[in-house]
This record gives sequence, structure tokens and C-alpha cells, in this order.
Amino acid sequence: MNISQWFSQLVKSSSLLRPVASGRLPGRYLAHQDSLPTLPVPPLQQTLDRYLLALEPIISEEELSHTRELVREFRKPGGVGERLQKGLERRARKQENWLSDWWLKTAYLEYRLPVVVHSSPGVVLPKQDFLDRQGQLRFAAKLIEGALDFKTMIDNETLPVEYLGGKPLCMNQYYQILSSCRIPGQKRDSVVNYTKGKKPPTHVTVVHNFQFFELDVYNSDGSPLTTDQIFIQLEKIWNTSLQRNKEPIGILTTNHRNSWAKAYNNLIKDKTNKESVRSIEKSIFTVCLDAPIPRVSDDIYRSRVAAQMLHGGGSRWNSGNRWFDKTLQFIVAEDGSCGLVYEHAPSEGPPIVALLDHVVEYTKKPELVRSPMIPLPTPKKLRFNITPEIKNDIEKAKQNLNIMVEDLDIKVIVFHQFGKNFPKSEKISPDAFIQMALQLAYYRMYKQPCATYESASLRMFRLGRTDTIRSASVDSLNFVKAMDDPGKQDHEKAELLRRATQAHRAYTDLAIKGNAIDRHLLGLKLQAIEDLVSMPELFMDTAYAVAMHFNLSTSQVPAKTDCVMCFGPVVPDGYGVCYNPLDEHINFAVSAFNSCADTNAAQMAHYLEAALLDMRRLLQSHPRAKL
Ligand code: COA
Repeated sequence: MNISQWFSQLVKSSSLLRPVASGRLPGRYLAHQDSLPTLPVPPLQQTLDRYLLALEPIISEEELSHTRELVREFRKPGGVGERLQKGLERRARKQENWLSDWWLKTAYLEYRLPVVVHSSPGVVLPKQDFLDRQGQLRFAAKLIEGALDFKTMIDNETLPVEYLGGKPLCMNQYYQILSSCRIPGQKRDSVVNYTKGKKPPTHVTVVHNFQFFELDVYNSDGSPLTTDQIFIQLEKIWNTSLQRNKEPIGILTTNHRNSWAKAYNNLIKDKTNKESVRSIEKSIFTVCLDAPIPRVSDDIYRSRVAAQMLHGGGSRWNSGNRWFDKTLQFIVAEDGSCGLVYEHAPSEGPPIVALLDHVVEYTKKPELVRSPMIPLPTPKKLRFNITPEIKNDIEKAKQNLNIMVEDLDIKVIVFHQFGKNFPKSEKISPDAFIQMALQLAYYRMYKQPCATYESASLRMFRLGRTDTIRSASVDSLNFVKAMDDPGKQDHEKAELLRRATQAHRAYTDLAIKGNAIDRHLLGLKLQAIEDLVSMPELFMDTAYAVAMHFNLSTSQVPAKTDCVMCFGPVVPDGYGVCYNPLDEHINFAVSAFNSCADTNAAQMAHYLEAALLDMRRLLQSHPRAKL
């Protein structure tokens, strides 16, 4: 057993909060990473067959026969498909992961829409029981201490290795989320990570009333500040930022990436501005001390908080209290609402939520030791010189942002009737059950299925990110069509539901093992661009465009905390659905755009609840046959 295996065994069953100062394990991270397999390139013929199968439920027979022709041409021995496949296999032999760089660029860095709503997910935490500034600062101080506690595990390489389906996962994303930031660029952004430098950052950024501060969170001996110390520092920040900054500089980060890149270059021409921007980019993370959100009924409270996490509520509310390019931003508002927003390029949701689970547990710990109060230097206010041109850029960004804020339709619901336990008791994968409920809800609303994306982790492989589970399948369509068909018997419907969930789980298994079709097809397409061969017809086909137009973009992000992640739709006429299935209930966040007359987040959430209940009723009245 090597050091990595030994440590994994040791920590696998340990509790969430364990003492982190239990020494360092230098080299453990790399040893673990080296032990992981590399991402395979799936066989060409397998992907093409599965592609045709995935198209069946979402395009017409006529379109399908046209695409079959294109596939036949593409897969011919010695044809373009084989040539591109060989190129991919060569790339896989040379690189640590043939996909990850391409994916980072295509999905994130070259994506030009604003990160706000279109890319950055938010997380809604349970409401905290404080209602004033004292409570807000106390909670924020504890949260910072908890996040630094988690950072110690990263720094010491003692972070527990995670497992999926019994296999150890790539831990790289954990090393990318602190002290990092996205930088806008013309055509392509970049991500900087300051943890590897000679002098890793020791400060966090705190934003209050649209004013930015650099708060050092380590003592000169290298020990992190305690909650008491951080609280006093936060009070100093609060007291020096009683008025809102007239120019909410952070709003610039909400803009279209090309406009922001232009404004960024202009902004950092000034030396003071450049230093302030660098301080934010380098900081370990950001803490946003928000003004209270407008009081709303309990029914819509969570949805309102989700909107605050995703965009800050607009230029008149808290959007100026953010630097949206920052990888990790914790948000704590004066009324007890809190959560976070994160920039997606460096990481998927699960590592972010694991950090959050740790922090939330940490905030619940009683404070026993009160540290002696050694006077600490006042946190540094980050100054910006606002030229008329910058002012103009801010005004334009405000206008665009406010349109986006108006456009986002988001509904968070807690489905109380059952959680993971019910499908488990029926020997059904809870994730597959929820995905089939989404298929049923969509079909009932639109009388047709749609291309559906569910993220599948590729972290079993070194530097793995995600692939797509295509939840709309022949089996899911058979089930949703039958469900409301009066000509079908209930026992047939139950059988079709069970079969659809098994098909979904089977797709999940092949996806997490690197055998799904979406990233492979993307790889073949990018290989064609790299080889400068003309784009194969297969990728210019209407069916391909339909297959990539995900009206349902979904993701499971499980957490121990009773929270939910949320994100915007990926197409103008679609839904973004994220869920956290707990044992006895499920938290859902459903988003859509108001500008699309055909979508409605609350209505989708309502159909989803009905679908879950109808499916339970069906299974309970028709138990599976005894084996
Ligand atoms: N009978 C009984 N129990 C079952 C079952 C069955 N037929 N099938 C699964 N279960 C159990 C599992 O053992 C598991 O048990 P646990 O709660 O003790 O861990 C639980 O039900 C959940 O399994 P399932 O619902 O099938 O989902 P999963 O946990 O395997 O997750 C994915 C599926 C697709 C979400 C996961 O593989 C994945 O890829 N996650 C990452 C997604 C991601 O990156 N999202 C973020 C994007 S920003």
C-alpha cells in the first residue's frame, strides 16, 4: 500500500470535521494524482452508434435517416472519422488529459456571455438566525475561520480523497479554487492561481457598500486569525465604509467578456487601480457583506436569495458588492440570508460544496477560547481612480446587468414529500428517478421531449472534469408517453418507469467511466479544426444542433448542508435545474428567462413536484415483481 492509498483508507470513514493540524503530508497529492488512470478516447464506432440512439427521441424519422447517411460517410474505413480519431488518440498519448484544456477553453474561457447568470453557479444556504450587523459580522468571521481551516487541509495535503462508485477521484480542482481569479481577455479569458508563487497570498477581499478591502487573515507567525480577531477587523471595515461607494467598480465584472476585457485594460492603466485589482485577484477568496435583501414571504424567500447569489439583485441592490471573476465569493447579508457564488472555470460544484459543508459545520462549533487581543493593523482600503471613461463603462455595465436581472426567472423549492430514501426502497437510483421526473414534467408541459444535459463527473480520471448524461432516451420517451395514456395499464407504466431509470443509470455508469458521447464528439470536431480539415458534415447537420440545444440543463450537486446550488439556463428557451437530494427531502432550483414566452420556472417546478408524486403513487400501487 502506498502513502496515498494508506491515507485514503484512513480518512475515508472519518467525520467531516477532523483536526486539521495533524501534520503535513507533502507529496501525497501528487502521489494520489499519479495513481489515477488517464481519460480514454472511446471507440469511434461505439460513439457513432450511441449518437444515433441519443437522437432517436429528439428528432424526426426523416432527419434521423439523413443523419444516418452522414454517420455512414463519417465512419467509413479510412474516412475522415478514422483520421480524426487517430489524431485524438495521438493527443491522448501526449497529454495528461486529452480533453481538459480543450474543455476549459471551449466551455469557459472562450465563452463570451457574462459569467453572471450564464456561467457562475450560486449556492443558497439556510437562513442564519441573526438580524443585525453584529450577527452578520460574527457569522462572517466564523465563516472565514472555517474556510481557512479547510485551506489548511489543502496546504497540508491532508484533504480526504473522495470516491465515486468505489473509485478514488481526481482532487486537482481543490487546488484551483483558492487564491485564483478569472482575467478577461479579448477572444479568450485566462485564470490565474497565486497559490504556487513564492509568497502565497495571506489576505481575503472584503466588500461592503461597494467598497473593497484587503484583510490579512494570518498572524506574522503564520497562524490564522481567530474568529474574535477577524470580527474586530470586520468591524473596522464596516465603520470605514458607512456610505455606499458612488462608483460600483465590481459591476464591470458582470459585462459581456469582450466589453469587460476592453474596460479592464483601460482600468488597470492607472497604477493605483492596477494594485487594487491585483489585490482582489490574488486574495484567497472574497467575502461580500451585503445589505439586507427586501423582505418577502417565506414562500419566495429562497428564490429571492438564489437571485441574490446569482446576480446580486441589480445595480441598486448588491451587485456592486461583488467581483464576479473571483473564483470563490461568500455572501453574508445583514438579514441572515447567505450563500456563495463561484466562477466556474476552475471547478465543478462538488468541491465547492464540500468546502461549504466544512465551513457550515465549522460555524456551528461553540467558541470556547477567546484569544488575547493583540492590536492588528487596519485592513487596507483598495482605492480606484475613476476616469470619465471608466465611469462610462460602469454605467453601460449597470444597464446590461439590470436587463439580465429582470430577465432571470428563478424558483427554489423544497420537495418535502420524500427524498432519496423512497427510490432506494424501490431499488431505483435516486438520481435516475429525479431525472425521469424531469422528463415527465417537461413532456407534460410541452408534449415533446428535449435534448437534456446532466453533468457526469469524469474525476475518476486525472484532471477529469465532466461529460454529459443524455437523460432523454428511447426508454424515457416510452415512459413519459405511456404515463398519461389512458390506454395503458398502470403495471405497464410502472414497468416502463423502472426500465427508464435502469437505462439512465446505465448511461450514468458509462459516462463516469469515460464512454459517453458528448466530449468525444466535441474532441473530434476540435481535432478537425486543429488539423485544418474542412468541418465534417456531421457537425454541420441540423440534428447535431438540436442535440446540442439543451432545453433542460441539469445537475445533481449533493451536499450535507441543507442547501441548493443554482444556475441559469444554457439556451434562451430552456431551463437550468440543479438539485440536492437529501434522505427525506429534495431541494430544487429551477431557472428560466422571462424574455422567453414559452418558459416559466415556477410552472416547471410545479410540474416537477406533480411528476415526483405521480411516479411514487405508480410504484407504490405496483410493487416490483419478487425475484
Ligand atoms: N437501489 C438502491 N440504491 C441505489 C440504487 C438502486 N438501484 N442505485 C443507486 N442507489 C444508491 C447509491 O448507492 C447511492 O447511495 P448513497 O446515498 O449511500 O451514496 C445513492 O443511491 C445515490 O445514487 P444515485 O442516485 O444513483 O446517484 P450517484 O450518487 O451515483 O450520482 C451522478 C449520479 C451522475 C450525479 C454522479 O455520478 C456524478 O457524476 N456527480 C457529479 C456531477 C457534477 O459534477 N455536478 C456538478 C456540475 S457543476
